[in-house]
Amino acid sequence: MSNFYVTTPIYYVNDLPHIGHIYTTVVADVVARYQRLSGQRVHFLTGTDEHGQKIERAAEEEGVEPIELADRVVSRYHRLWEQLGISHDDFIRTTEARHRRGVEEVVRRIQEAGDFYTARHEGWYCTSCESFYTEKELLPGKLCEVHEAPVEWKSEDNIFFRLSRYQQPLLEWYEKNPGCVRPVSRGNEVKSFVERGLKDLSVSRANLAWGIPFPEHPGQTIYVWLEALSNYITALGFGQPESADLYNTFWDTDDGTRIHLVGKDILRFHAVYWPAFLMSAGLPLPTSVVAHGWWLRDERKISKSAGNLVRPDDLLEQFGPDSLRYFLMREMVFGQDAQFSDEGFVDRFNSDLANDLGNTVSRVVTLSRRTFDGQTPPESCDDNRLIALAEEAVRDYHAAMAELAFSRALESLWRLLAETNQYLVEKEPWKLVKTEGTSPRVSRILWTGLEATRLTVLPRSLARSLLKPSTNPSSENWASWPKTISRMRK
Ligand code: MSP
Repeated sequence: MSNFYVTTPIYYVNDLPHIGHIYTTVVADVVARYQRLSGQRVHFLTGTDEHGQKIERAAEEEGVEPIELADRVVSRYHRLWEQLGISHDDFIRTTEARHRRGVEEVVRRIQEAGDFYTARHEGWYCTSCESFYTEKELLPGKLCEVHEAPVEWKSEDNIFFRLSRYQQPLLEWYEKNPGCVRPVSRGNEVKSFVERGLKDLSVSRANLAWGIPFPEHPGQTIYVWLEALSNYITALGFGQPESADLYNTFWDTDDGTRIHLVGKDILRFHAVYWPAFLMSAGLPLPTSVVAHGWWLRDERKISKSAGNLVRPDDLLEQFGPDSLRYFLMREMVFGQDAQFSDEGFVDRFNSDLANDLGNTVSRVVTLSRRTFDGQTPPESCDDNRLIALAEEAVRDYHAAMAELAFSRALESLWRLLAETNQYLVEKEPWKLVKTEGTSPRVSRILWTGLEATRLTVLPRSLARSLLKPSTNPSSENWASWPKTISRMRK
């Protein structure tokens, strides 16, 4: 058993969650569940990013204290993760004391390494990104490229981090660890960004009350990104010696995987700034940073600022959590952008879930139940064409999961489902039942149908099933399916 640590970005609390936030969390949940089933010791972290100007302003606009706004949004996140069956082990809030202690320790270490200095800072700032941009990086009209919203000119004394020192070490890290930034194409973009030269980074803000004060620098607050990125280790107990077990198990170890899942817009923060902060603090780096694309609506990134939000509430109410999870995993090719449309959602729901999955499962379960009195058919079958297809489907499924190619993994299972359906149509067990009753032939056909549909739903169990046909599928696994199916029907 080895250790597997998976994280989502921590979400800003200036607004309620939308489909983009849900996506990363569902992906992380799928990865965590898959790794747990594979026998790894898993720790899955998500949480909220609550400090900074963006939140301070949002609270001001609503006429509430920032912490009130944060509490309200956080409770929505908790409820949503429960509704969606998210299996996280921890939820960190950056307003927690444990986080502050850990961040202060990160800052102390960077200070000790001599990587901070104070200087005047001027530049264009996007509050939505909480980031400075150079003029060249902006869209015409001085708009931020991510939010397509105006940036502001800022000029203040700040503390700088000597990011330029880490250009070479970062390039070496990318070189020595192929795949540490994925997909490869995005890894190459990050590398060229670093090769073009790194400027030192302002890591404090003057005149910002809502944040963690910069130790030994009165009037300065720790830059929200330096603070927020640290959550990945503060949540494990870093900087809190009395509770550092998780940190030692999941971060400070040679034996393990530490994977950050992020959207492409925040890849630079995770694949350049975060490893540089860690190097400076003398701490281990993540083993990989993986970026996914954006959910678009009408060709634009779904976001509050674009005004094209897709909230989960209606979808959850109408279609249930499994349908939403399935859609997100099936529709987006991981790494690329995908369009969200109501029609697309309903199409997938009707064709993949209600029709392909629902009808096949319902057909085979209903007939088996009626014919064999709710028991697994007594005679198993170790000689039919679905066995080879199932082995192939499950092999492809695992290969795809290893590459985080979730839609491909599902496609391979749906191929098996189509073949199962075809097999049943050819064998027509519903007709045979009328003439042969519970004959061995009927038993074998229904056993095969049940087994193949079970593998579609539980592909990890192949080793215990078709390969060893003496072990019958457990009736517990499929007895509750019809209930699920009726929920899936519109
Ligand atoms: N708070 C920072 C992350 C700090 S991590 C140390 C942040 N928060 S966010 O709430 O704005 O975004 C969180 C995640 O949601 C990001 O990975 C972002 O890419 C993702 N998404 C937001 N909108 C999205 C889409 N329309 N589509 C897919 N994901 C997008 O950034």
